[in-house]
Amino acid sequence: MQDEACTFIVFGATGHLATTKLLPAIYHLEEENRIPDGSVIIGYSRRKLDDSDWNNKLTQILTERARGGLKQEVATRLKARVHMLNGDMTDAESLKSLKAYLDSSPNIPKNLVFYMAIPPNLYAKVAHALHDAGLTNSEHGWRRVVIEKPFGYDTQSAMVLNESLHKYFDENQIFRIDHYLGKSMVQNVLVFRFANLMLEPLWNRNYIDHIQITHAESQGIGSRATFYDGAGALRDMLQSHLLQMLTLVAMEPPASLDAESLRDEKVKVLKSIRPISRRVVNAHAYRAQYAAGVVDGKKVPGYLEESGIPKNSVTETYAAMKLYIDNWRWRNVPFYLRTGKRMAKNSSVISIRFKHPPQQLFRKTQIDQLKPNWIVLSIQPNECLRMELQVKQPGLEMNAHTTQLDASYCATGIDQLDAYESLLLDVIQDDCSLFLRFDEIHHAWEIVDPILKEWDTQQDYIHTYPAGSWGPDDNKLFDRDDQKWRNSIDDEMN
Ligand code: BG6
Repeated sequence: MQDEACTFIVFGATGHLATTKLLPAIYHLEEENRIPDGSVIIGYSRRKLDDSDWNNKLTQILTERARGGLKQEVATRLKARVHMLNGDMTDAESLKSLKAYLDSSPNIPKNLVFYMAIPPNLYAKVAHALHDAGLTNSEHGWRRVVIEKPFGYDTQSAMVLNESLHKYFDENQIFRIDHYLGKSMVQNVLVFRFANLMLEPLWNRNYIDHIQITHAESQGIGSRATFYDGAGALRDMLQSHLLQMLTLVAMEPPASLDAESLRDEKVKVLKSIRPISRRVVNAHAYRAQYAAGVVDGKKVPGYLEESGIPKNSVTETYAAMKLYIDNWRWRNVPFYLRTGKRMAKNSSVISIRFKHPPQQLFRKTQIDQLKPNWIVLSIQPNECLRMELQVKQPGLEMNAHTTQLDASYCATGIDQLDAYESLLLDVIQDDCSLFLRFDEIHHAWEIVDPILKEWDTQQDYIHTYPAGSWGPDDNKLFDRDDQKWRNSIDDEMN
Protein backbone atom coordinates (compact mmCIF):
# COMPACT_ATOMS: atom_id res chain seq x y z
CA MET A 1 0.00 0.00 0.00
CA GLN A 2 1.28 3.45 -0.92
CA ASP A 3 2.05 5.62 2.15
CA GLU A 4 -0.12 8.70 2.53
CA ALA A 5 1.25 11.91 1.08
CA CYS A 6 2.29 14.47 3.67
CA THR A 7 3.81 17.89 4.08
CA PHE A 8 7.09 17.63 5.92
CA ILE A 9 7.94 20.92 7.63
CA VAL A 10 11.52 21.23 8.80
CA PHE A 11 11.97 23.95 11.42
CA GLY A 12 15.60 25.01 11.47
CA ALA A 13 16.11 24.04 7.84
CA THR A 14 19.39 25.92 7.45
CA GLY A 15 20.85 24.59 10.71
CA HIS A 16 23.46 21.94 11.37
CA LEU A 17 21.17 18.95 11.83
CA ALA A 18 19.02 19.71 8.82
CA THR A 19 21.93 20.28 6.49
CA THR A 20 24.11 17.41 7.66
CA LYS A 21 21.49 14.74 8.30
CA LEU A 22 17.89 15.50 7.39
CA LEU A 23 18.21 16.88 3.88
CA PRO A 24 20.69 14.23 2.77
CA ALA A 25 18.37 11.58 4.24
CA ILE A 26 15.39 13.04 2.38
CA TYR A 27 17.44 13.02 -0.83
CA HIS A 28 18.29 9.34 -0.35
CA LEU A 29 14.64 8.49 0.29
CA GLU A 30 13.79 10.33 -2.93
CA GLU A 31 16.40 8.29 -4.71
CA GLU A 32 14.81 5.09 -3.41
CA ASN A 33 11.35 6.36 -4.42
CA ARG A 34 10.22 6.07 -0.81
CA ILE A 35 8.70 9.55 -0.46
CA PRO A 36 4.96 9.18 -1.02
CA ASP A 37 3.73 10.72 -4.27
CA GLY A 38 2.52 14.27 -3.90
CA SER A 39 4.45 14.91 -0.68
CA VAL A 40 5.89 18.36 -0.14
CA ILE A 41 8.88 19.41 1.96
CA ILE A 42 8.96 22.86 3.48
CA GLY A 43 12.11 24.28 4.96
CA TYR A 44 11.28 26.90 7.55
CA SER A 45 13.95 29.16 8.90
CA ARG A 46 14.52 32.61 10.37
CA ARG A 47 17.13 33.27 7.70
CA LYS A 48 15.76 35.03 4.64
CA LEU A 49 16.27 32.67 1.75
CA ASP A 50 14.01 32.52 -1.27
CA ASP A 51 13.42 29.39 -3.34
CA SER A 52 16.38 30.12 -5.59
CA ASP A 53 18.90 30.76 -2.72
CA TRP A 54 17.56 27.67 -1.13
CA ASN A 55 17.95 25.63 -4.31
CA ASN A 56 21.60 26.66 -4.53
CA LYS A 57 22.20 25.79 -0.92
CA LEU A 58 20.47 22.47 -1.36
CA THR A 59 22.64 21.65 -4.36
CA GLN A 60 25.72 22.43 -2.33
CA ILE A 61 24.60 20.27 0.62
CA LEU A 62 23.65 17.36 -1.58
CA THR A 63 26.80 17.56 -3.67
CA GLU A 64 28.80 17.20 -0.48
CA ARG A 65 26.71 14.47 1.06
CA ALA A 66 24.90 12.35 -1.53
CA ARG A 67 26.14 8.76 -1.33
CA GLY A 68 27.98 7.85 -4.47
CA GLY A 69 27.74 11.41 -5.84
CA LEU A 70 24.79 13.65 -6.65
CA LYS A 71 22.35 12.31 -9.24
CA GLN A 72 20.89 15.26 -11.15
CA GLU A 73 17.65 13.51 -11.94
CA VAL A 74 17.01 12.75 -8.23
CA ALA A 75 17.97 16.29 -7.22
CA THR A 76 15.53 17.72 -9.77
CA ARG A 77 12.72 15.50 -8.48
CA LEU A 78 13.48 16.51 -4.92
CA LYS A 79 13.73 20.21 -5.67
CA ALA A 80 10.30 20.12 -7.25
CA ARG A 81 8.80 19.24 -3.89
CA VAL A 82 10.96 21.43 -1.64
CA HIS A 83 9.98 25.01 -0.77
CA MET A 84 11.53 27.50 1.56
CA LEU A 85 9.66 29.86 3.88
CA ASN A 86 11.08 32.23 6.43
CA GLY A 87 9.75 33.56 9.65
CA ASP A 88 9.91 33.30 13.40
CA MET A 89 8.71 29.83 14.32
CA THR A 90 8.08 30.83 17.94
CA ASP A 91 5.62 33.50 16.84
CA ALA A 92 2.03 32.51 16.06
CA GLU A 93 1.60 35.42 13.64
CA SER A 94 4.51 34.17 11.49
CA LEU A 95 3.13 30.68 11.61
CA LYS A 96 -0.25 31.94 10.45
CA SER A 97 1.47 32.88 7.18
CA LEU A 98 2.77 29.34 6.99
CA LYS A 99 -0.78 28.10 7.52
CA ALA A 100 -2.09 30.41 4.82
CA TYR A 101 0.56 29.02 2.47
CA LEU A 102 -0.42 25.43 3.30
CA ASP A 103 -4.10 26.21 2.79
CA SER A 104 -3.47 28.10 -0.45
CA SER A 105 -3.11 25.10 -2.69
CA PRO A 106 -5.00 21.81 -2.94
CA ASN A 107 -1.68 20.26 -4.00
CA ILE A 108 -0.20 20.66 -0.55
CA PRO A 109 -1.08 17.57 1.49
CA LYS A 110 -3.10 18.19 4.64
CA ASN A 111 -1.14 15.65 6.69
CA LEU A 112 1.61 17.55 8.47
CA VAL A 113 4.90 16.50 10.05
CA PHE A 114 6.64 19.17 12.13
CA TYR A 115 10.33 18.39 12.50
CA MET A 116 12.01 20.38 15.27
CA ALA A 117 15.61 20.64 14.06
CA ILE A 118 16.04 23.63 16.36
CA PRO A 119 17.65 24.43 19.70
CA PRO A 120 15.93 22.41 22.46
CA ASN A 121 14.87 25.49 24.41
CA LEU A 122 12.52 26.35 21.52
CA TYR A 123 10.54 23.08 21.35
CA ALA A 124 7.81 24.12 23.77
CA LYS A 125 7.57 27.64 22.35
CA VAL A 126 7.18 26.37 18.81
CA ALA A 127 4.54 23.84 19.87
CA HIS A 128 2.63 26.63 21.54
CA ALA A 129 2.89 28.92 18.52
CA LEU A 130 1.81 26.08 16.18
CA HIS A 131 -1.27 25.64 18.30
CA ASP A 132 -2.08 29.36 18.34
CA ALA A 133 -1.66 29.51 14.58
CA GLY A 134 -4.22 26.73 14.19
CA LEU A 135 -1.68 24.29 12.80
CA THR A 136 -2.12 21.53 15.38
CA ASN A 137 -5.76 21.01 14.49
CA SER A 138 -5.98 17.55 12.93
CA GLU A 139 -9.50 17.74 11.57
CA HIS A 140 -8.44 17.58 7.92
CA GLY A 141 -5.25 15.57 8.14
CA TRP A 142 -2.98 13.98 10.73
CA ARG A 143 -0.32 15.88 12.71
CA ARG A 144 3.00 14.43 13.90
CA VAL A 145 5.80 16.24 15.66
CA VAL A 146 9.40 15.01 15.74
CA ILE A 147 11.47 16.13 18.70
CA GLU A 148 15.22 15.87 18.59
CA LYS A 149 17.35 15.08 21.60
CA PRO A 150 18.24 16.28 24.16
CA PHE A 151 14.69 16.05 25.43
CA GLY A 152 15.09 18.38 28.40
CA TYR A 153 18.14 19.24 30.36
CA ASP A 154 17.52 17.04 33.37
CA THR A 155 14.61 15.06 34.84
CA GLN A 156 12.68 18.11 35.91
CA SER A 157 12.97 20.06 32.66
CA ALA A 158 12.15 16.92 30.63
CA MET A 159 8.91 16.57 32.58
CA VAL A 160 8.04 20.21 32.01
CA LEU A 161 8.74 19.89 28.28
CA ASN A 162 6.65 16.76 28.08
CA GLU A 163 3.71 18.47 29.74
CA SER A 164 4.00 21.42 27.36
CA LEU A 165 3.93 19.15 24.33
CA HIS A 166 1.00 17.20 25.67
CA LYS A 167 -1.10 20.35 25.79
CA TYR A 168 -1.17 20.32 22.00
CA PHE A 169 -0.25 16.80 20.90
CA ASP A 170 -1.34 13.34 21.99
CA GLU A 171 1.33 10.79 22.84
CA ASN A 172 0.82 8.96 19.53
CA GLN A 173 1.62 12.19 17.67
CA ILE A 174 4.97 12.78 19.41
CA PHE A 175 8.05 11.14 17.88
CA ARG A 176 11.01 11.59 20.25
CA ILE A 177 13.97 10.70 18.13
CA ASP A 178 17.18 8.98 19.14
CA HIS A 179 18.86 8.44 15.82
CA TYR A 180 21.01 5.61 17.18
CA LEU A 181 17.92 3.42 17.15
CA GLY A 182 17.82 3.89 13.39
CA LYS A 183 21.32 2.51 12.89
CA SER A 184 21.11 -0.91 11.37
CA MET A 185 23.79 -2.45 13.58
CA VAL A 186 21.99 -1.19 16.68
CA GLN A 187 18.82 -2.88 15.45
CA ASN A 188 20.90 -5.92 14.71
CA VAL A 189 21.58 -6.29 18.43
CA LEU A 190 17.99 -7.49 18.74
CA VAL A 191 18.22 -9.91 15.86
CA PHE A 192 21.58 -11.23 16.98
CA ARG A 193 20.37 -11.77 20.52
CA PHE A 194 16.90 -13.10 19.92
CA ALA A 195 17.24 -14.97 16.64
CA ASN A 196 20.17 -17.12 17.80
CA LEU A 197 19.26 -19.70 20.38
CA MET A 198 22.86 -20.52 21.24
CA LEU A 199 23.45 -17.08 22.76
CA GLU A 200 20.58 -16.90 25.19
CA PRO A 201 21.94 -19.38 27.78
CA LEU A 202 25.21 -17.42 27.89
CA TRP A 203 23.74 -13.92 27.98
CA ASN A 204 23.79 -13.34 31.73
CA ARG A 205 25.83 -12.86 34.87
CA ASN A 206 26.98 -16.50 34.95
CA TYR A 207 29.06 -16.16 31.81
CA ILE A 208 29.54 -12.48 31.04
CA ASP A 209 32.32 -10.67 32.87
CA HIS A 210 31.44 -7.15 31.79
CA ILE A 211 30.07 -5.12 28.89
CA GLN A 212 31.55 -1.97 27.38
CA ILE A 213 29.95 0.56 25.09
CA THR A 214 32.28 3.09 23.51
CA HIS A 215 31.41 5.94 21.19
CA ALA A 216 34.53 7.82 20.12
CA GLU A 217 34.65 10.64 17.59
CA SER A 218 37.74 12.20 16.07
CA GLN A 219 35.96 15.45 15.26
CA GLY A 220 35.60 18.23 17.79
CA ILE A 221 32.54 20.33 18.48
CA GLY A 222 32.57 22.02 15.08
CA SER A 223 30.23 24.97 14.85
CA ARG A 224 28.05 23.88 17.78
CA ALA A 225 29.89 25.74 20.56
CA THR A 226 26.85 27.31 22.20
CA PHE A 227 24.82 24.13 22.24
CA TYR A 228 27.72 21.91 23.26
CA ASP A 229 29.09 24.07 26.03
CA GLY A 230 25.66 24.12 27.63
CA ALA A 231 25.20 20.38 27.25
CA GLY A 232 28.47 18.41 27.53
CA ALA A 233 29.14 14.81 26.61
CA LEU A 234 27.03 13.20 29.33
CA ARG A 235 23.85 14.93 28.17
CA ASP A 236 24.72 14.93 24.49
CA MET A 237 25.57 11.25 24.04
CA LEU A 238 25.47 9.18 27.19
CA GLN A 239 22.03 9.96 28.54
CA SER A 240 20.51 9.16 25.18
CA HIS A 241 22.39 7.12 22.59
CA LEU A 242 24.58 5.06 24.89
CA LEU A 243 21.87 4.24 27.41
CA GLN A 244 19.61 3.21 24.55
CA MET A 245 22.27 0.82 23.27
CA LEU A 246 22.63 -0.55 26.79
CA THR A 247 18.91 -1.27 27.01
CA LEU A 248 18.99 -3.30 23.79
CA VAL A 249 21.96 -5.35 24.95
CA ALA A 250 20.50 -5.96 28.40
CA MET A 251 16.75 -6.27 27.95
CA GLU A 252 14.62 -9.39 28.22
CA PRO A 253 13.02 -10.70 25.03
CA PRO A 254 9.95 -8.57 24.34
CA ALA A 255 6.59 -10.27 23.76
CA SER A 256 6.56 -8.90 20.23
CA LEU A 257 8.30 -6.27 18.16
CA ASP A 258 5.46 -3.81 18.48
CA ALA A 259 6.33 -0.42 19.86
CA GLU A 260 4.87 -0.87 23.32
CA SER A 261 6.30 -4.32 24.03
CA LEU A 262 9.75 -3.20 22.95
CA ARG A 263 9.64 -0.02 24.95
CA ASP A 264 8.24 -1.79 28.04
CA GLU A 265 11.31 -4.03 28.12
CA LYS A 266 13.71 -1.13 27.63
CA VAL A 267 12.08 0.74 30.49
CA LYS A 268 12.43 -2.28 32.77
CA VAL A 269 16.19 -2.20 32.20
CA LEU A 270 16.44 1.51 32.93
CA LYS A 271 14.38 1.13 36.08
CA SER A 272 16.63 -1.70 37.27
CA ILE A 273 19.83 0.32 37.01
CA ARG A 274 21.30 0.80 40.46
CA PRO A 275 21.04 4.50 41.30
CA ILE A 276 24.34 6.31 41.65
CA SER A 277 24.13 8.53 44.69
CA ARG A 278 25.95 11.84 44.63
CA ARG A 279 28.33 10.56 47.32
CA VAL A 280 29.78 7.92 44.97
CA VAL A 281 29.74 9.84 41.71
CA ASN A 282 33.53 9.97 41.51
CA ALA A 283 33.78 6.19 41.75
CA HIS A 284 31.20 5.69 39.00
CA ALA A 285 31.75 8.51 36.55
CA TYR A 286 34.63 10.38 34.99
CA ARG A 287 34.74 13.52 32.92
CA ALA A 288 37.47 15.26 30.95
CA GLN A 289 38.01 17.84 28.25
CA TYR A 290 40.23 17.67 25.18
CA ALA A 291 43.42 19.71 25.14
CA ALA A 292 45.28 20.61 21.95
CA GLY A 293 46.69 17.65 20.09
CA VAL A 294 47.03 15.93 16.75
CA VAL A 295 44.19 14.20 14.91
CA ASP A 296 44.81 12.41 11.62
CA GLY A 297 48.22 14.05 11.41
CA LYS A 298 46.85 17.58 11.83
CA LYS A 299 47.30 19.85 14.83
CA VAL A 300 43.98 20.76 16.39
CA PRO A 301 43.15 23.23 19.16
CA GLY A 302 41.96 22.29 22.61
CA TYR A 303 38.35 22.71 23.64
CA LEU A 304 39.04 25.99 25.43
CA GLU A 305 40.58 27.41 22.24
CA GLU A 306 37.53 26.57 20.12
CA SER A 307 35.66 29.64 18.98
CA GLY A 308 32.69 30.47 21.16
CA ILE A 309 33.89 28.50 24.20
CA PRO A 310 34.47 30.47 27.43
CA LYS A 311 38.09 30.22 28.59
CA ASN A 312 37.07 28.88 31.98
CA SER A 313 34.58 26.28 30.74
CA VAL A 314 34.58 22.95 32.59
CA THR A 315 32.14 21.32 30.16
CA GLU A 316 33.16 17.72 29.57
CA THR A 317 33.91 16.51 26.07
CA TYR A 318 34.55 13.02 27.45
CA ALA A 319 32.28 11.21 29.85
CA ALA A 320 32.45 7.67 31.17
CA MET A 321 30.41 5.79 33.69
CA LYS A 322 30.00 2.42 35.30
CA LEU A 323 26.52 1.05 35.86
CA TYR A 324 25.02 -2.06 37.41
CA ILE A 325 21.67 -3.50 36.50
CA ASP A 326 20.17 -5.00 39.61
CA ASN A 327 18.08 -7.75 38.10
CA TRP A 328 18.35 -11.53 37.92
CA ARG A 329 20.16 -11.54 34.63
CA TRP A 330 22.77 -8.88 35.29
CA ARG A 331 23.35 -8.49 38.99
CA ASN A 332 26.97 -7.41 39.60
CA VAL A 333 27.99 -7.36 35.93
CA PRO A 334 29.53 -3.94 35.31
CA PHE A 335 28.46 -2.01 32.23
CA TYR A 336 31.10 0.56 31.26
CA LEU A 337 29.96 3.37 28.97
CA ARG A 338 32.08 6.16 27.53
CA THR A 339 32.01 8.77 24.85
CA GLY A 340 34.41 11.45 23.73
CA LYS A 341 35.08 14.06 21.07
CA ARG A 342 38.51 14.48 19.47
CA MET A 343 39.50 10.93 20.22
CA ALA A 344 41.94 8.92 18.13
CA LYS A 345 39.36 7.53 15.69
CA ASN A 346 35.68 7.36 14.96
CA SER A 347 34.59 4.15 16.55
CA SER A 348 31.33 2.99 18.11
CA VAL A 349 31.48 -0.49 19.54
CA ILE A 350 29.64 -2.67 21.97
CA SER A 351 32.07 -5.19 23.46
CA ILE A 352 30.94 -8.12 25.53
CA ARG A 353 33.62 -9.92 27.50
CA PHE A 354 32.99 -13.40 28.79
CA LYS A 355 34.52 -14.80 31.95
CA HIS A 356 37.80 -16.66 32.00
CA PRO A 357 37.30 -20.40 31.57
CA PRO A 358 38.78 -22.63 34.27
CA GLN A 359 42.45 -23.26 33.64
CA GLN A 360 42.94 -26.72 35.13
CA LEU A 361 42.92 -28.68 31.86
CA PHE A 362 45.84 -26.70 30.50
CA ARG A 363 47.88 -26.39 33.68
CA LYS A 364 50.76 -28.44 32.37
CA THR A 365 50.90 -26.80 28.94
CA GLN A 366 52.45 -23.62 27.51
CA ILE A 367 49.09 -21.94 27.92
CA ASP A 368 49.61 -19.92 31.07
CA GLN A 369 46.38 -17.95 30.90
CA LEU A 370 43.50 -18.60 28.57
CA LYS A 371 42.13 -15.44 27.03
CA PRO A 372 38.42 -14.87 27.50
CA ASN A 373 35.97 -14.84 24.61
CA TRP A 374 34.65 -11.56 23.30
CA ILE A 375 31.67 -10.67 21.16
CA VAL A 376 32.16 -7.30 19.54
CA LEU A 377 29.47 -5.42 17.68
CA SER A 378 30.93 -2.57 15.72
CA ILE A 379 28.35 0.05 14.84
CA GLN A 380 30.59 2.44 12.95
CA PRO A 381 32.61 3.30 10.97
CA ASN A 382 32.12 -0.26 9.71
CA GLU A 383 29.29 -2.51 10.68
CA CYS A 384 30.67 -5.74 11.95
CA LEU A 385 29.85 -8.53 14.29
CA ARG A 386 32.78 -10.53 15.58
CA MET A 387 33.31 -13.41 17.97
CA GLU A 388 36.74 -14.07 19.38
CA LEU A 389 37.52 -17.66 20.29
CA GLN A 390 40.60 -19.53 21.44
CA VAL A 391 42.02 -22.24 19.20
CA LYS A 392 45.18 -24.29 19.25
CA GLN A 393 48.12 -22.80 17.44
CA PRO A 394 49.43 -25.07 14.72
CA GLY A 395 52.59 -26.88 15.80
CA LEU A 396 53.85 -29.43 18.28
CA GLU A 397 53.31 -27.35 21.40
CA MET A 398 50.00 -26.92 23.14
CA ASN A 399 49.58 -23.19 22.63
CA ALA A 400 46.40 -21.21 22.15
CA HIS A 401 45.74 -18.10 20.14
CA THR A 402 42.74 -15.95 19.37
CA THR A 403 40.81 -16.46 16.20
CA GLN A 404 38.02 -14.23 14.98
CA LEU A 405 34.73 -15.20 13.46
CA ASP A 406 33.37 -12.25 11.52
CA ALA A 407 29.79 -12.24 10.34
CA SER A 408 29.82 -12.30 6.57
CA TYR A 409 28.18 -8.93 6.17
CA CYS A 410 30.96 -6.97 7.91
CA ALA A 411 30.47 -4.04 5.61
CA THR A 412 32.92 -1.52 4.24
CA GLY A 413 30.78 1.40 5.31
CA ILE A 414 30.39 2.96 1.88
CA ASP A 415 26.79 2.07 1.20
CA GLN A 416 25.51 2.12 4.74
CA LEU A 417 22.08 3.62 5.12
CA ASP A 418 21.97 6.61 7.39
CA ALA A 419 19.86 6.20 10.51
CA TYR A 420 17.76 9.23 9.61
CA GLU A 421 16.55 7.61 6.41
CA SER A 422 14.79 4.78 8.16
CA LEU A 423 13.53 6.99 10.98
CA LEU A 424 12.02 9.62 8.67
CA LEU A 425 10.25 6.85 6.85
CA ASP A 426 8.95 5.51 10.17
CA VAL A 427 7.46 8.93 10.92
CA ILE A 428 5.72 8.99 7.55
CA GLN A 429 4.47 5.45 8.15
CA ASP A 430 3.40 6.17 11.74
CA ASP A 431 5.67 3.53 13.25
CA CYS A 432 6.95 4.73 16.60
CA SER A 433 8.74 1.57 17.74
CA LEU A 434 12.18 3.12 17.24
CA PHE A 435 11.21 6.38 18.94
CA LEU A 436 11.34 7.01 22.65
CA ARG A 437 8.44 6.91 25.02
CA PHE A 438 8.61 9.54 27.71
CA ASP A 439 9.19 7.08 30.54
CA GLU A 440 12.42 5.92 28.84
CA ILE A 441 13.69 9.46 28.74
CA HIS A 442 12.55 10.10 32.27
CA HIS A 443 14.39 7.10 33.71
CA ALA A 444 17.47 7.84 31.64
CA TRP A 445 17.60 11.34 33.12
CA GLU A 446 17.16 9.92 36.62
CA ILE A 447 20.26 7.78 36.08
CA VAL A 448 22.52 10.67 35.08
CA ASP A 449 20.99 13.46 37.17
CA PRO A 450 23.10 12.87 40.32
CA ILE A 451 26.25 12.88 38.20
CA LEU A 452 25.26 16.12 36.49
CA LYS A 453 24.45 17.74 39.83
CA GLU A 454 27.72 16.66 41.38
CA TRP A 455 29.77 17.82 38.39
CA ASP A 456 27.95 21.11 38.52
CA THR A 457 29.45 21.75 41.93
CA GLN A 458 32.98 20.99 40.67
CA GLN A 459 33.58 24.16 38.72
CA ASP A 460 37.31 24.71 39.35
CA TYR A 461 38.90 21.76 37.65
CA ILE A 462 38.43 19.22 34.89
CA HIS A 463 40.87 16.55 33.72
CA THR A 464 42.16 16.84 30.18
CA TYR A 465 43.27 14.44 27.45
CA PRO A 466 45.23 15.27 24.32
CA ALA A 467 43.12 15.54 21.18
CA GLY A 468 43.81 12.46 19.07
CA SER A 469 44.27 10.13 22.06
CA TRP A 470 41.94 7.46 23.39
CA GLY A 471 40.88 9.72 26.23
CA PRO A 472 42.01 10.28 29.81
CA ASP A 473 43.28 7.66 32.20
CA ASP A 474 40.05 6.65 33.87
CA ASN A 475 41.05 3.08 34.72
CA LYS A 476 39.89 3.59 38.29
CA LEU A 477 36.36 3.04 37.01
CA PHE A 478 37.09 -0.61 36.33
CA ASP A 479 36.32 -3.16 38.99
CA ARG A 480 39.44 -5.23 38.34
CA ASP A 481 42.91 -4.85 36.83
CA ASP A 482 42.17 -7.27 34.01
CA GLN A 483 39.38 -5.03 32.72
CA LYS A 484 40.25 -2.14 30.44
CA TRP A 485 38.76 -0.20 27.55
CA ARG A 486 38.61 -1.87 24.22
CA ASN A 487 39.01 1.00 21.78
CA SER A 488 37.99 -0.45 18.50
CA ILE A 489 36.99 -3.76 17.03
CA ASP A 490 40.57 -4.57 16.09
CA ASP A 491 42.04 -4.01 19.53
CA GLU A 492 44.20 -6.84 20.79
CA MET A 493 42.75 -7.83 24.14
CA ASN A 494 43.81 -9.95 27.09
C1 BG6 B 1 24.41 13.60 18.12
C2 BG6 B 1 25.27 14.41 19.03
O1 BG6 B 1 23.22 13.24 18.75
O2 BG6 B 1 25.12 12.43 17.74
C3 BG6 B 1 26.59 14.76 18.36
O3 BG6 B 1 24.59 15.61 19.36
C4 BG6 B 1 27.28 13.50 17.88
O4 BG6 B 1 27.45 15.46 19.24
C5 BG6 B 1 26.32 12.68 17.04
O5 BG6 B 1 28.39 13.88 17.09
C6 BG6 B 1 26.93 11.34 16.69
O6 BG6 B 1 26.10 10.71 15.79
P1 BG6 B 1 26.69 9.79 14.63
O7 BG6 B 1 25.50 9.24 13.96
O8 BG6 B 1 27.53 10.68 13.77
O9 BG6 B 1 27.51 8.78 15.36
